[in-house]
Amino acid sequence: MAKWLSAYYEDNIKLAADIIKKGGLVAFPTETVYGLGANALDKLAVAKIFEVKNRPDFDPLIVHICRKEDVFLYADQIEDDVEKLIDHFWPGPLTIVVPKKDIIPSIVTAGNTTVALRMPKNNVALKLIEFAGVPIAAPSANPFGYISPTSAFQVADTIGDKIDCILDGGKCQFGLESTVVMVKEGKIFLLRPGALEIEKIEKLLGKNIEFYKEENILSPGQIKKHYSPQKEMILIKPVINQEKIDYKATIEKLYRVLEEKSIDYKNVYLLLPSYDFVVNDGFGVVDYFSISYDLKDIASNLFEKIYLADKSDKNVIVVVGVKKEGLGLSIMNRLEKACNYEF
Ligand code: TXA
Ligand code: MG
Repeated sequence: MAKWLSAYYEDNIKLAADIIKKGGLVAFPTETVYGLGANALDKLAVAKIFEVKNRPDFDPLIVHICRKEDVFLYADQIEDDVEKLIDHFWPGPLTIVVPKKDIIPSIVTAGNTTVALRMPKNNVALKLIEFAGVPIAAPSANPFGYISPTSAFQVADTIGDKIDCILDGGKCQFGLESTVVMVKEGKIFLLRPGALEIEKIEKLLGKNIEFYKEENILSPGQIKKHYSPQKEMILIKPVINQEKIDYKATIEKLYRVLEEKSIDYKNVYLLLPSYDFVVNDGFGVVDYFSISYDLKDIASNLFEKIYLADKSDKNVIVVVGVKKEGLGLSIMNRLEKACNYEF
C-alpha cells in the first residue's frame, strides 16, 4: 500500500517531492481532481503511470508546472492567444496544448509534437512541483476509463496498492477535470470541456471556440465510453421548456423510462441534480448533487456521488442530467460518456 501523507505538513510535501525526484509515483490533489504524478522528464517514471492506470499509450499526459514562465522551457512557440489565456486563467483549471520542446519525452505526449501544459490552482500541487524541481506529468489518479478521484480515499481504494505515495490534501474544489484547449494559427479548439467554462475563454479572446474533430483521437475526452462506473448507468436528460428545465416533465420521463425498461425502483440508486426534482418514495437510494440547482456544487460532487453509487448494493445507477450551458456542458460530457443508455 502507498505511503499516506497528510499534505497539511509541509515536510510531508517535501517527502512526496523526494519520491518524484527518485522516479516514484505520487498521487496528489489539484483543484480539479487527484493526479497521479511522475517526473515528466523521466521516461521510465512516466512509463509507470501508463502501467498502473492500464492506460493506452496513445493517450498523452498533461504536464503540470508551478510558474507561468516555465511554459517557455517546454513549449516551442507561443501564440498571442496562449499568452492571454495563461495571464488570465493560470493558475487554474485550463490545460493548453502547445508545440513541444525536445526536453519533453515523447512517451509523455504519446508521440505528438505538442504537449499539454497546466498550472494548477492548488497550493499543495504547486509546492509539490516546486520542491520536486521538475515538471510533473499527471493524468487523473484512477484506472483508465473509471471515474476520476476527488478524494485521497478514492485513490487509495482503486490504485493505492500500485503507487508509492498518496498526498492527502482533502477534497478537490472543482471535482471535474480541467478544460483542454489548443490554439493553432489564431484559432482556438476545444479538446475537452472541463472545469473552466468555454464562455469565459470566448469572452477573453473575443472569438468562438471550435470543436476539434479529427480522425485520430487527440483526447480521451473524445473516446466514447470513459469516466464510467462498473455498474449499469442510465442517464435521463432534462426536459427543457422555454430555455428552462421542466422538473416535473423530467421526472415523468424518468418514470416512463423505468417502466419501459421494467426496472424495479428498489434496485435503483437515483442521483438528482437538486431538490427541485421531486420523486415519490420507493427508490433504493435517492441522493442529490446539490441542494439548489448550482452547477459548481453539482460538478464538485459528481464523481464522488457516482463512485458511492457504484460501491452500493443497488444494481442500477440512474442519473438525471443538467442543462448544457456553462459548466453544464462539461457535466453532461462526463455523464454521457459514463452512462450505458441515455434518454
Ligand atoms: O484536471 C485535470 O486535467 C487532471 C489533473 C490531474 O490535472 N488531469 C487529467 O488528465 O484529467 P487526464 O490524463 O485524465 O486527461 C488529459 C487530457 C486527455 O484528454 C488527453 O488526451 C489530453 O488531455 N491531452 C494531453 N496531451 C495532449 C496533446 N498533446 N494533445 C491533445 N490532447 C492532449
Ligand atoms: Mg482521466
